[in-house]
Amino acid sequence: MCGIVVAIATRNIVPVLIEGLSRLEYRGYDSAGLAVVGGENSDKLVRLRACGRVAELAALVEMSRLSASLGIAHTRWATHGAPSEINAHPHVSEGVAVVHNGIIENFETLRAGLQARGYVFVSDTDTEAIAHLIHHKRQTTPDLFEAVRLAVGELEGAYAIGVIADSDPARAVVARHGAPLLLGIGEEGMYAASDTAALLQVTRKVIYLEDGDIAELSREAIRIVRAGGEPVERQAHLSSLMPDAMELGPYRHFMQKEIFEQPQAISNTLGLVLGSHSVQEGLFGAQAFDLFDGVRQVLVLACGTSYHAGLVARYWLEAVAGLPVSVEIASEYRYRKSVADPATLVVAVSQSGETADTLAALKYARELGMKRTLAICNVPESAIVREAALRFITRAGPEIGVASTKAFTTQLVVFALLTLVLAKRNGRLSGSEEKKHMTALCHLPVAVQKVLELEPEIGRWAQRFAGKEHALFLGRGQHWPIAMEGALKLKEISYIHAEAYAAGELKHGPLALVDERMPVIAVSPADDLLEKLKSNLQEVRARGGELYVFADDDCGIAASECLHIMRMPEHYGMLSPVLHVVPMQLLAYHVALVRGTDVDKPRNLAKSVTVE
Ligand code: G6P
Repeated sequence: MCGIVVAIATRNIVPVLIEGLSRLEYRGYDSAGLAVVGGENSDKLVRLRACGRVAELAALVEMSRLSASLGIAHTRWATHGAPSEINAHPHVSEGVAVVHNGIIENFETLRAGLQARGYVFVSDTDTEAIAHLIHHKRQTTPDLFEAVRLAVGELEGAYAIGVIADSDPARAVVARHGAPLLLGIGEEGMYAASDTAALLQVTRKVIYLEDGDIAELSREAIRIVRAGGEPVERQAHLSSLMPDAMELGPYRHFMQKEIFEQPQAISNTLGLVLGSHSVQEGLFGAQAFDLFDGVRQVLVLACGTSYHAGLVARYWLEAVAGLPVSVEIASEYRYRKSVADPATLVVAVSQSGETADTLAALKYARELGMKRTLAICNVPESAIVREAALRFITRAGPEIGVASTKAFTTQLVVFALLTLVLAKRNGRLSGSEEKKHMTALCHLPVAVQKVLELEPEIGRWAQRFAGKEHALFLGRGQHWPIAMEGALKLKEISYIHAEAYAAGELKHGPLALVDERMPVIAVSPADDLLEKLKSNLQEVRARGGELYVFADDDCGIAASECLHIMRMPEHYGMLSPVLHVVPMQLLAYHVALVRGTDVDKPRNLAKSVTVE
């Protein structure tokens, strides 16, 4: 959601800006723009903006033969004001140009104050107020860096900004507070971006800014200060991300690639414990031994697919570790007056580590006195990871497709490890049970690989779904969240309206929707709820509903007219949800393919939801 690229170098930085923006496309956006200074023929600010894809901006750049040594660029996901060229960033105030990710909560007050001083606003955005505010500060404090520092002191809300001015062609200024921004140290210049992916083209040497940092970038140096102006040193890291991690390879879409990367992603996440028969607290960080001590309950905070991972984990943590668990949608939890118990382990789950609501919910839980916090996250150094006392980084690799897949299964793997660690501490796990669970975990990559072989058959099923406008997903127990995830995947990328129900709830309402036009997808593992589920399926059949059943090989359900069966491998016990989600992902993917939607960048959605 919104991406920023800033560059100042001894070379032409326009291609760097465009390539950077295209690497940030996956975050979700609806317009793009850039502004540069220091071009071949002029020191004036040049701005180009386009509604739609980065490719359209690139075409404008090509036509204008733009070349410059200093610039800022942006992909915008509309919040204040519709997606349009006028609202696209950068926003300009007489030679000062600004790109911004986040939301300025006091922008109306700022706008009113600036309008009273004669500033004219041409867009509906909150960002334009930042541009005018910096311009206004420069009337008394001409130094751009100082003016930005004073201006951000008046901003309320979340922001990462990049600023340039035509009066100052030798530097760019950036600042962050609550939205991601990192700096890149290159051989030919200095850069800043919303994430590392945008900068791999020029450097792997990055500095993660902290909230409240303001940085000045010149061609040779970087200077960072805190809000009060005190200089601060931030360590540089060498990113482990390789440029080819962002390539599509032989796949048609990133989502398909990421579905097929799951065996490897699970292996990588298991890392050191792969092949081991036991599991230790140390996996969760040096302080885990102390912080897990005396934990009486678990609170999971997450959004979207990560929330579904928490819902599955509740079944594991309660049944195996004997701990009560609540799983909360972060955007709800952060505004609820709940009862806090300091003996709670708070687990924030997030692929990106940037989701504004999850981050805020985690902070809120801590303010309520719950200090034992753990982040399960796919992005090291992300805001959520840095906020938590403990962390487990899923090693899924970059996830580009907006619909989350490999992040989900690797989150489940981490939750399984957490379950075993806490069960062991609670004296609820014998050595032989631990060995049995660890063997199953370590075998997961092979088991998932087997499920992936169903792709051609699922592709054929997808043909039948493509013309539908509604679908119902059913599951029970720990597979109910898998039905929810299946429905979410289908909604996200195929735009078919899909709902998931705990199958026992069918006759309390959704059965009224069932007729021959409503496909009903059932997640049917051969577990101890199978007989109950079979009765629910009969209820659907009796109303003429068409059933598509993803059944474990040993489930004993036979195909019949209007009851189609996809045979999965044999039941996989506690970890069965990790296998059963894979055909849900493949089904959504293939339905979207048939419907011709933009699989990796579905309409209206963003990968990293950095605003609430
Ligand atoms: C967005 C993404 C989803 C993701 C959710 C939570 O909605 O499109 O795929 O599940 O955010 O994101 P997080 O990065 O916190 O897991």
